[in-house]
Amino acid sequence: MFERKPLDTSNKPVAYAELESQLRGLLHGERDFIANAANMSSLLWHSLPDLNWAGVYRLVGDQLVLGPFMGKPACVRISMGKGVCGTAAATRTTQLVPDVHAFPGHITCDAASRSEVVVPLIKKGELLGVLDLDSPTPGRFDTEDQAGLERLAAALAEASA
Ligand code: SME
Repeated sequence: MFERKPLDTSNKPVAYAELESQLRGLLHGERDFIANAANMSSLLWHSLPDLNWAGVYRLVGDQLVLGPFMGKPACVRISMGKGVCGTAAATRTTQLVPDVHAFPGHITCDAASRSEVVVPLIKKGELLGVLDLDSPTPGRFDTEDQAGLERLAAALAEASA
């Protein structure tokens, strides 16, 4: 059983190390990507403060398709190179966006979103999809969040078929 404990995020590297440990526990012994992404979305949603969306898009063919998430209903399909998610997927690099209104082509799913971070999910050189977190607060995510989320994304990708 997952026990929901408030996460002390005053020290982000410590907080993300704790989250990684919890995530690895949830992923242990399971290779189904959808199930693992669902548990990861829930873990992030309940652990990290100041989010309005946390979830995954899967690469299906040449498009990103909505996967498990927490938050309001979102756009289902995103083309490669489009929006923050499509840019992260096409470039295979994390997109740290302090102001979504300043990102050319940002796709608005929830009008409350003001900042966003999208991390590509890559397993042995293969792109599986992206991890997307949104916040109603401008500049919510920094390079410590990026580093922590990249470790979590790597754990999800490695664990999943
Ligand atoms: N804002 C994203 C779309 C996904 S939603 O935020 C959940 C983008 O520009 O790709």
